[in-house]
Amino acid sequence: MTAADLVVVANRLPVDLERHPDGSTTWRRSPGGLVTALEPTLRAREGAWVGWPGVPDAEVEPFAEDGLSLFPVMLTAQEVTDYYEGFSNGTLWPLYHDVVAPPQFHRHWWRAYTAVNQRFAEEVAKVAAQGATVWVQDYQLQLVPGKLRELRPDLRIGFFLHIPFPPVELFRQLPWRTRIMEGLLGADLVGFHTDGGVRNFHWLAQELAGASPDRDPEVLHHGGRRIRLGAFPISIDSHRLDELARTPEVEKRAAEIRTELGSPEKIVLGVDRLDYTKGIDVRLRAFHELLEEERVSVDDAVMIQLATPSRERVEHYQQMRADIEQAVGRINGEFARVGHPAVHYLHRSLPREELAAFFLAADVMLVTPLRDGMNLVAKEYVACRPDDGGCLVLSEFAGAAIELTSALLVNPHDTDGVKEALYAALTMNAEEGRKRMRTLRRQVLDHDVDRWATGFLEALGIRVEQ
Ligand code: ADP
Ligand code: G6P
Repeated sequence: MTAADLVVVANRLPVDLERHPDGSTTWRRSPGGLVTALEPTLRAREGAWVGWPGVPDAEVEPFAEDGLSLFPVMLTAQEVTDYYEGFSNGTLWPLYHDVVAPPQFHRHWWRAYTAVNQRFAEEVAKVAAQGATVWVQDYQLQLVPGKLRELRPDLRIGFFLHIPFPPVELFRQLPWRTRIMEGLLGADLVGFHTDGGVRNFHWLAQELAGASPDRDPEVLHHGGRRIRLGAFPISIDSHRLDELARTPEVEKRAAEIRTELGSPEKIVLGVDRLDYTKGIDVRLRAFHELLEEERVSVDDAVMIQLATPSRERVEHYQQMRADIEQAVGRINGEFARVGHPAVHYLHRSLPREELAAFFLAADVMLVTPLRDGMNLVAKEYVACRPDDGGCLVLSEFAGAAIELTSALLVNPHDTDGVKEALYAALTMNAEEGRKRMRTLRRQVLDHDVDRWATGFLEALGIRVEQ
């Protein structure tokens, strides 16, 4: 394959390799919001994507897929344990999500993180054309900008963080804080979802890495270079989802879902990767209490929780899964009738069309993360409501809350507040609901993922053809 002018590098490829018991292999879409957002963007620009195929020890040759060139990076089983499950998801993920679970600091995890970041940088250095633009993604690869600049000073390098950048007091806990800061400062542009992330980074870069400020609060100077910072709230392919939700197939399936549930008056929905940051327990507790207080009955309201399996070998995830399944069991034990569960729980990933039908069927969407960089599910729900129906209950601690102010905003740490918001959503008059949804839809349809990508690439100095 020829050298590429635009290279995205992310921990995962947009597709995961699946190995079957008979030895055959297939590819399936990778989980999570990063892939949801970047895939349509990069396909439209015919770029290259460097990433891990999602299973250990997979030596896969580069291949082309529908306008995209994919360059797989091999990780050994030990690296998956130490770099991916360990440093990325046992140290950085909880630390950057306001320590909602305690992060662990292990030197052998850090060593694996630096070695794997070095390998990613070397792979990109081979794939990128002279003077190419490289767009590095997310917390797993924070050392790549610095390492890549050493290997290929001709490249233009952007970095985007898909999760929150933490408050300074939390970041300072990291024993390797200065190395991470220097790695990120290897980029020409460092992007975050929110202005809060920009401010925290601006302060820490000076404090830890000796970067100098500029009159422009979104510029730093370091190592004789100028580094731009910026807030770029990510989004979704909103028009495609809007169109999908208008198709007769999706409309029909949404009606079927309601019938299959026993035609309840209200359907309450949660859709998440099964992650402890998502506050699934919070919404189950709120629903449970409304049933206990007899303000809601299983005849009027049914809850559905769709949960994509995630990071299943990491201890916090195993514990949380057990807790959630126990909570679902308890609610159903107390309130279900035969053939009528109070909570339907599906631990699997669903196809896009099916997900769109669930969004269209849901009267109330509960998005209650304790902390979330953006949360694309909230935007997907809005995009799937061309009928202006439905009501979004959204955590203040999701990046999406900055834009989606017409949702019912809640503090997920306040169970009474979540409960009252859920009750308000269930009893909201139709006119107020439609008014809120219309405002939300204007925001989501005007600010789609292409606008996000164009904004980032232009800030990186790339002229983007529309
Ligand atoms: P995160 O990136 O932390 O997983 P986001 O809400 O930003 O959170 O993105 C999650 C993505 O995964 C969305 O595109 C959402 O539609 C998708 N997703 C979540 N749960 C499921 C599921 N059960 N089936 C299919 N897709 C899902
Ligand atoms: C979030 C992260 C992504 C990650 C995704 C899925 O969206 O920001 O970097 O890819 O979750 O998580 P996983 O660990 O399965 O890649």
